Amino acid sequence: MSMNYVFGFALFLLLLVALNIYFFYTLMPIGKKSLSFNVPSIKLDQSPSVFKDIYDYLNYLPNQYRNRNSKFFPLQKYLLTSFSPSDNIENYWPTQKEVGTGSSLYPHKNGVAGQMLSAMKAGQIVIVDNAVKGTQLKLLLLLETHQKLYFKPKRYERDHIIHGSIVAGFDRHNAEVFAYYLAMTLNFTWIPPSVIRKLHVDREIFSIATMGLRKTMIKNGNGEYCIYGKCFYCKINETVCPDNNGEIEGAAILYLDRPFQFQVYKSPWRRNYRDSKLMEWQRENDFCKKVMGTLSTKRILDLVDISIFDFLIQNGDRHRYEMYKDRILLLDNGKGLGNPSVDELDILAPLYQCCILRLTTWKYLELLSGGSLTETIKLMSSFQDENLATEDHFKAVERRLLKVYATVQYCIGRYGSAKVFKSHW
Ligand SMILES: *[C@@H]1O[C@H](CO)[C@@H](O)[C@H](O)[C@H]1NC(C)=O
Ligand SMILES: *[C@@H]1O[C@H](CO)[C@@H](O)[C@H](O)[C@H]1NC(C)=O
Repeated sequence: MSMNYVFGFALFLLLLVALNIYFFYTLMPIGKKSLSFNVPSIKLDQSPSVFKDIYDYLNYLPNQYRNRNSKFFPLQKYLLTSFSPSDNIENYWPTQKEVGTGSSLYPHKNGVAGQMLSAMKAGQIVIVDNAVKGTQLKLLLLLETHQKLYFKPKRYERDHIIHGSIVAGFDRHNAEVFAYYLAMTLNFTWIPPSVIRKLHVDREIFSIATMGLRKTMIKNGNGEYCIYGKCFYCKINETVCPDNNGEIEGAAILYLDRPFQFQVYKSPWRRNYRDSKLMEWQRENDFCKKVMGTLSTKRILDLVDISIFDFLIQNGDRHRYEMYKDRILLLDNGKGLGNPSVDELDILAPLYQCCILRLTTWKYLELLSGGSLTETIKLMSSFQDENLATEDHFKAVERRLLKVYATVQYCIGRYGSAKVFKSHW
C-alpha cells in the first residue's frame, strides 16, 4: 500500500519536473520576444518604430534577394523585343480603340512600344501651346499625324541633387521617362509612354506657337526666346531657355486625348503641403484600419503597388491619383529622382501599414533581384539612346528594391504570408 503511494508521489514529482522543463523551453521564445518589445525604443519624432523593424529585416535579408533570379531572363528577352524597333523601323501610333482596352494602357508587345517611342521622338510638330492644367510648366504639342504630346521641359542637369522636402523643386523631366521604363519593367503597364525629346526653340516652338504661348515667352540677354509658361507655379523670373544648339530638352509624354476620361481621387496617404502638421497616416501606425473601412481591398492593393513604384523613384508627391476602367494610372511622375542618397521609407506606408500585397506583384518583384531591374531599364531605353539618370540614381533604385523586399519580410514576420499575399485580386 505505502510503496504504491510513494511510487505515485515520485511519478507526480517527475511529471512536475517534466512540465517545468517543457514550459521553460516553449515559453522561452515568447518571453524573449516580449522582452524586445518592452525595451523602450527611442522614438524619433517622425520615424516610427516600424522603420527599425524593417531595417532589422534588411540586415538579415536572404541571399536570393541580392542575387539574380534566372527565371527573369525569358521575361527580360520579351521586354527587350517590345522595345527594340530594329525589326520594324516604321513608326507606330495606336488607334483610339486600342488605348486602355487590353491588359495595358497602350499596346506594347512585339516591338510596338519601341515603334511608338520612335514616333514620339521624331513626329513633326504643327502647333505648340501652353498646357495650363497643373502646377508645373508644360507645353502641349500637336503632331502632324494628330497625336498630342505633353512636353515637360528640363529644369535640372542629371546630376543636380534636390535637397530638403521630398516634394521640393521643379519636376524632373528625366524622372518621367525613367518612370515609364521602370513601370514597364515592373509590369505596371497603366502608364503613358514617354521619351526624351529636344525641340529647337525657333523652328519647333516659337514659329508654330499659339498666341497664348508667345505671350509667355521672353527674350533673354542673348536674344534667345525663353519660356515661363502658364501654370499654377509659373513665374516670369523662372524661365526655361535654349541650350547652345538653340534647343530645349524635355520629356515628351503621350497625351490621353478625349474621349479618354478618368476620375481623380485624393490619396489617403497624401502629404500636407500647407504647413508642417503631420497627416493622420503619419501619426497613427494602424491608419490602414480606417482606410480598409472606406476603400475596397482591390483599391488598397493598387495603392500598395503604386507605393512600391513611387518608393523606388522616391516620388512623394502622389497626393491624388487618376483612375480609368477601375485601374490607377501612373500619371505625373516628375517628382522622382530628386536625391539618390535619400530613401524616404514612409512612401511605403501603404505597404507597411496595411501589410497586404498582390501575390502576382510579389512573385514579379522576386524575379527582379540582383541588378536585373535597372539593367533592364538601361537596355530597354538604349534603343532610344536615352540618358535617363546618373549611375547613382540607378544604384539607389537597386538599394531601395532591397528595402521593399525587407518591408515585405517584415509584414510576413508580423502576420504570416497567408495574411499578407492576396491571390484573387
Ligand atoms: C503582366 O500583367 C498582366 C495583367 O496586367 C498579366 O496578364 C501578365 O500575366 C503579367 N505578366 C507577367 C509576366 O506576370
Ligand atoms: C522669382 O520670383 C519669386 C517672387 O515672385 C521668388 O519667390 C522666386 O524665388 C524667384 N525665383 C528665382 C529663380 O529667382
